[in-house]
Amino acid sequence: MGDYFLIFVFYFSLFNFHDSLFSSHFSPPLLSMDILPANLRDLGPLRRIEQACFPKDAWPLLDLMAVLTWPEVVRLKAVVNGQMVGFIAGDPRRGEGMAWIATLGVLPEYRRQGIARLLLLECEKRLNTPRLRLCVRLENDGAIRLYEQEGYLRVGTWTKYYNDGGDALVMEKLQAVTGDSSSETQGRK
Ligand SMILES: CC(C)(COP(=O)(O)OP(=O)(O)OC[C@H]1O[C@@H](n2cnc3c(N)ncnc32)[C@H](O)[C@@H]1OP(=O)(O)O)[C@@H](O)C(=O)NCCC(=O)NCCS
Repeated sequence: MGDYFLIFVFYFSLFNFHDSLFSSHFSPPLLSMDILPANLRDLGPLRRIEQACFPKDAWPLLDLMAVLTWPEVVRLKAVVNGQMVGFIAGDPRRGEGMAWIATLGVLPEYRRQGIARLLLLECEKRLNTPRLRLCVRLENDGAIRLYEQEGYLRVGTWTKYYNDGGDALVMEKLQAVTGDSSSETQGRK
């Protein structure tokens, strides 16, 4: 496996068969999924993911280039059947003993299959900081549910944080670190 966190997901369930036959929202079957480090070659697919996931808050091109190149940032992509379908970036601030989850998004047609959870857990592991923080739109119930399930607690709100005046919920998680977390270098926004 080396650097890669390789996952094979097989779908034999009647649910998916039923879903593809009778639902107007068709989810392509996940034959295999890899969680891999992302780099500048992923700029095009990342832009599509950003625009699909954050219609109001999509990062400009320069920010996307920065997140794919900045030293220290942990950046991971979820790849299904050769296509990048999800992305996460974590920004470690070693001096503060913490990291920010800067962004997390999965293409709409690939959601509710556990991809964001896997990206989050692998990113947390690679960040390897005792404290993790993120902010999320206060009304983003689905994402907040995921974060709460993974141990994040509500620690504050930033009013009018987003460009459209929306409020942000700040969430925090404590985790055990392994080895010398100060020497970690990989992947940021
Ligand atoms: C939030 C987001 C990343 C979740 O991606 P995902 O791959 O669908 O998430 P998962 O399948 O790993 O979901 C894990 C759990 O989170 C919760 N969850 C995720 N999306 C949910 C939704 N829309 N409604 C309710 N619960 C939801 C569920 O408990 C889910 O478990 P379940 O499917 O077994 O019930 C995705 O919906 C997305 O990209 N949204 C737009 C961008 C965004 O809001 N990013 C997060 C804020 S920074």
